[in-house]
Formats: sequence, structure tokens, C-alpha cells
Amino acid sequence: MSTRCSLREESPHFKSNFNVGACSLLEVLECSVISIDPLFILVLSALWVMLPAYLPNPVAALCGGGLSVDLGRNYSDGKRLLGDGKTYRGLAAGILAGILIGIVQIWSAGRFGWDFLPQQTLLSITLLAVGALLGDLVKSFFKRRFGKERGAKWPVADMYDLVAGAFVLLLIFDPGWLFATVTLPVLIIILILTPVLHRAMNILGYLTKVKEVPW
Ligand code: CTP
Ligand code: MG
Repeated sequence: MSTRCSLREESPHFKSNFNVGACSLLEVLECSVISIDPLFILVLSALWVMLPAYLPNPVAALCGGGLSVDLGRNYSDGKRLLGDGKTYRGLAAGILAGILIGIVQIWSAGRFGWDFLPQQTLLSITLLAVGALLGDLVKSFFKRRFGKERGAKWPVADMYDLVAGAFVLLLIFDPGWLFATVTLPVLIIILILTPVLHRAMNILGYLTKVKEVPW
């Protein structure tokens, strides 16, 4: 900041109103960048933590199809156990994609020394990926019990099923990592980001004809 201010004083070039204005603007921008820095790191950390859980859903939508997980069976209420929206292919492809992106994260964090980001482990990425789609299955089970058809809107559950599934698995099998990594601020950002990303991905999926509905 001081370099720019001294430049402004020393050089006649900086005497024009335009340049003085530009210089002040840069100073303001510099200040605001410094002040949003911790928030930026927080958002980046939340995305970094959740990436292995966020990826399985879109990949399942992209690759899903074929044999349904419930094998077409009904529950005692006469409705489908899970429905045709939950298939083995979607499950396998989604989990694989979540684990693969997690391995890339672990590798790149080590390779480039990204110490400012939360540290993923093989266990954490596996629990995040498996948990995300298990949460989705459990949600569909209850969605059917409430009489909602495959693909019907069920806002809060549809958005947070992956977070709940991933965190429940982490709580059971790796609580140390969960509590050390998902601090309260990170959790709050995850809870804000998840519905926004979920909606954005679904609209994208709808526009590219991967999904039948934009939710
Ligand atoms: N999908 C899949 N297998 C999974 C999860 C998803 O094959 N385990 C695919 C299905 O083609 C599904 C699409 O991804 O239709 C979108 O997923 P989702 O929105 O979770 O399923 P819905 O069709 O909305 O079904 P539900 O009402 O049970 O959530
Ligand atoms: Mg759906």
C-alpha cells in the first residue's frame, strides 16, 4: 500500500484525477481482500472437506441405470422399498468417483504442500463418499414411506441427505477426524453451501438432460 502511495506522490503521472481514483480504489480493494481472506479460506476448507461427498451424487446421476438397489421389491406398505432412482451402477460409480477425487486431494495436498487446507485421509474420503450415497438411499426409503414418487420434490431431505449420511459414518468410524476437521465455522459454511451447490448441480443436470427434474 505504501509503495503505491509514494508512487502517487512522486510521479506527476499520478496527479490526474483518474489515477488518484484508481490508486484509492486499489487501496480499498487491497483492504477488503485482506479482510475476506479468512472467509475465503473457510469456504475453501468446507469445499475441500466435502468434495468426496459432493461428487458421488452427480456422478450417480450421470452413470446410473440398470438394476435397482431394491431389485424392484415393495415394502410392507405396498410401495417400492427405494425406487428406480437408486441403482447399483449409480451407487458404485458415485462411490468410486468420490474416493478417486479424495485420492487426488490427498496426493495434491502432499505434492504442493497445501497445509492451509484440512487434511483428508483414505478413511475420511471413503466414509464421505460411501456416507453420501448411503444417506441418499436412506432418504429415498423414507421418501417412499411418505408416499412421494421417485424424483418428487422433498427440499430439505434431498439437500442434506448426503451431509447427514457422511457425518453419521464419520461419527461412527472416524470421530477423531470429524471433530478435528469439521470445526463449527466449517460446519456452518457446509450447511450454507450444500443447498446452493445441490440446486446449482441439479439445474445443470436438468439443462444437460442428465436429470429429469431441476431439483
Ligand atoms: N442414481 C442412481 N443410483 C443412485 C443414486 C442416483 O442410479 N444410488 C441416478 C438415478 O438415475 C436417479 C438420478 O441419479 O434418478 C438422480 O438421483 P436422485 O435425485 O437422488 O434420485 P431421484 O430420481 O430423485 O429418486 P428419489 O426420489 O428416490 O430421490
Ligand atoms: Mg432427486
